[in-house]
This record gives sequence, structure tokens and C-alpha cells, in this order.
Amino acid sequence: MRRPVVAGNWKMHGSRADNTRLVDALVEASDALPCDVVICPPAVYLWEVGRQVKDSRIALGAQSLCAEAQGAFTGEVSSGMLRDVGASYVIVGHSERRALYGETDALVARKFVAAQSSGLTPILCVGETLEEWEQGATEQVVARQLDAVLELAGVAAFARAIVAYEPVWAIGTGKNATPDQAQAVHAFIRARIAARDAIIGDGLRLLYGGSVKAANAAELFGQPDVDGGLVGGASLKADEFVRICVAADGGRA
Ligand code: 13P
Repeated sequence: MRRPVVAGNWKMHGSRADNTRLVDALVEASDALPCDVVICPPAVYLWEVGRQVKDSRIALGAQSLCAEAQGAFTGEVSSGMLRDVGASYVIVGHSERRALYGETDALVARKFVAAQSSGLTPILCVGETLEEWEQGATEQVVARQLDAVLELAGVAAFARAIVAYEPVWAIGTGKNATPDQAQAVHAFIRARIAARDAIIGDGLRLLYGGSVKAANAAELFGQPDVDGGLVGGASLKADEFVRICVAADGGRA
């Protein structure tokens, strides 16, 4: 049985005061949640938020990392540094990084490997744009994004990773994929990994991301290959995020 995961990607939001309020409320609710919970604040807040969640079941994740271990890379943060301040997860290949910061499939694969080299669990994001969706190219795009990582890291690396399917047209738009649409792509991703290693494919936790909210979470997470969510906007509201986490047992409990 795959244990569900709900990860909150705060993106570039928050302040020390906002974070304290949000994290206090999450920590208070965390013991009762039926899933692994990860919160991913902006890098500058990782240490402080890490202290706040230290005695709870909430884990800390970063939103990105540098593919290099150290050196003259102004503005970048390495996997070892993220580990050092208490992170145990890192989002890799988010569509905003791909689209706005030119991260290629090859670079994303290197970041995935860099994350694991310090013991971080990568949350690898894949997903098609609206144009690709309309062209019916979803599987082709997702396969290309996955294969770049499979080729560099090998299938065994997916035993220590999470994959998030985030259709770009559903991110921050209020327009989520339907449960059936999400399930179809998740099944495709699982089958692609399972074709290389059946046990790793079966155990891989696959998250859906894109306009997840309390009102649609149970239906999405109830799909057989949807093992939780990667939540943006709704992860900034404690009540809403807790309700999404509660929905993560997907009727399995
Ligand atoms: P929203 O939940 O705001 O659509 O964002 C999804 C996302 O990009 C999470 O990484």
C-alpha cells in the first residue's frame, strides 16, 4: 500500500509572520493527518520553518536546487545546503522553473541526481502545456520528461523519489484536470516506470497538482493511481490545506 503524500508548494509567497501563523496551525493539526505532509517554503525561510516543524510529523521541502554541489554559482543553493538546514524533499522540474528559468529536461535530470546525492527525496514534476494538451501530446511530453531522468538516474532511483503530474493549464487557473484525466496520465506514468521495474513502478508515489482544493481533493485522491497532491495556492491557507490532507486517505482508510 502506498502511503499518500500531500506537499504544499508555497512558491514565492509568505513572510516570517505569515509563516509562523500558517505553520503553527498546521503543526497543531498534523498528528491526525492520514498522509505524509511536506511543506516547501521559499529557500530563505527553510531554516526557520524547519525549527517550527521539528517536533511534528511535517517534513520540510525546498522548491528548487542547483545541479552543482558547490562553487562559483552566484544565487544558487546546493542539495547539501538544503539538507544542512533540515530539508528532506526538493521539488525538481516544476513547470515554472522549466518555462520561466529555461530548465531543460537534461538539467532537470541533473538536479534530480544532485538531490539524491545528498539524501533529499526529489519530487519530480512533469506535465504538458495547454497547447500540448490540445494537440493530444500529453503522453509524448510526459514520456520525454520522465525518460530524461530515467536515462541519467536509472529506474532504481525512482524507489527514492516522488513524481508529480502537473498539467500546466491547471496550475493556478482554478481549472483542475478531472479525476479521470488525472488517473489516465498517472496510470501512463506508472506503467512507464513499471515497464523497467515492476516493483518500483508499483511502489512509486504519484501526486496530482493543479488547482487542488478541499472541494476537489477527495475525488482526485480517490483515483487508484493518484497517491496525493502537490498543492500551490491552497497550501497557503491552513484550514484549506488541512482539509486537503484529510482527503488524502482517498477512501483507503
Ligand atoms: P495551484 O495549486 O496553485 O494550481 O499550483 C499547483 C502547483 O504548481 C504546485 O506545485
